Amino acid sequence: MAKAVYPGSFDPITLGHMDVIKRASELFDELTVAVLNNSTKTPLFSVDERVNMLQEVCADLPNVRVDHFSGLTADYVIKNGFNSIIRGLRAVTDFEYELQMAQTNRKLAPRADTVFLTTSLEYAYLSSTTVREVAYYGGDISRFVPEGIDKIIYEKYKDIKKK
Ligand code: PNS
Repeated sequence: MAKAVYPGSFDPITLGHMDVIKRASELFDELTVAVLNNSTKTPLFSVDERVNMLQEVCADLPNVRVDHFSGLTADYVIKNGFNSIIRGLRAVTDFEYELQMAQTNRKLAPRADTVFLTTSLEYAYLSSTTVREVAYYGGDISRFVPEGIDKIIYEKYKDIKKK
């Protein structure tokens, strides 16, 4: 069985991520979207919040499951027996970092290959960072994130600004 993992921060999930998830789910028997619990970064959303958002937007994709992990992606890949690591490539600027990561992961987890999907052109400009920035200043993010996720992001900033 071809089992793939799509690791990432997903802070928050964007339509660009969704595009990659849907297309990867058609290529593999099983796709796990795995949220990195990264102690060196301060994310906007907790791991549980990110997992919940992903579960909500992936509910209609029967072969997609959502998980979280800490530490190295390669260790998580080996432990769970994934054959492939999915990453989205938006533009040539992503390439150097992604290539380095893919080569490192191949050394650490030689049984898994990284499979790059080129993000659909309409989302090539999109990142979680820009979504967070537009939302922070109250701009319209409804065209950037899956339905319902915009409200969750606005609420988060409302809570943060109250404090
Ligand atoms: O969505 P992101 O932030 O671009 O995802 C990056 C991610 C989580 C895939 C990457 O940072 C990662 O794999 N981190 C885990 C630590 C690790 O394995 N590092 C070595 C790879 S070079």
